[in-house]
Amino acid sequence: MLNKKLLITVSLSAIVVFGATASMQTDPDKPEWKNLKVLPKNISKDELHKVMDEWEGALGVKCGFCHARDNEAKKMDWVSDAKPEKEMARKMYTMTAKINKKYFKADKDDKDGMMASVNCNTCHHGSAHPDADNGEAHKGMMMNGMDHKAPPPPPTQPAPAQ
Ligand code: HEC
Ligand code: HEC
Repeated sequence: MLNKKLLITVSLSAIVVFGATASMQTDPDKPEWKNLKVLPKNISKDELHKVMDEWEGALGVKCGFCHARDNEAKKMDWVSDAKPEKEMARKMYTMTAKINKKYFKADKDDKDGMMASVNCNTCHHGSAHPDADNGEAHKGMMMNGMDHKAPPPPPTQPAPAQ
């Protein structure tokens, strides 16, 4: 009789403990993003922030270049699509992924588009307007020795026959 009661108590508390652990586990690693259209919907918090940092660096901008501020709540509204730059960044990401898939056979794990042969930096080089700086930003990158992500040179042509 006593044993039976004990057994029930033990199994009931096991359920409670199991339930608590399970709900804790779903929390930190699977954030609920509200408005992802191009990045993987289950991307972890760390990875998403890595992507955002890379984009900031490649364009030489801050978060607020793409993200709107909620002036009433006095904080950033990461979910909002109010700024056209955010939608442009999505198009750019899709374009870059297509170039890499078609011409460089990029692998699918390249979530931020920064590993493959063409990335945001290939064109932007720290500027939001790659066509407006006459390559000045590009020169700076080369002098810093950071130009190692350029696409490989074309195969050398045989010398023309004399
Ligand atoms: C070059 C533009 C750009 C910059 C700079 C940028 N973001 Fe983003 N961010 C985006 C885009 C585009 C998305 C949506 C991606 C998608 O649709 O998959 C996004 C999504 C997010 C989300 C997810 C919101 C949700 O729930 O849907 C967060 C959080 C976020 N950004 C934070 C940041 C932070 C913090 C910074 C600065 C460190 C930053 N972003 C800089 C373009 C940018
Ligand atoms: C093939 C070259 C190329 C690549 C790769 C590229 N971009 Fe762009 N991007 C451009 C050009 C050109 C413009 C137009 C610049 C202008 O309007 O002055 C532009 C414009 C933008 C703008 C709008 C700037 C503005 O002021 O409205 C955003 C945001 C942007 N790019 C983000 C990105 C992100 C993020 C990536 C990587 C995922 C990326 N781009 C990859 C060439 C590129």
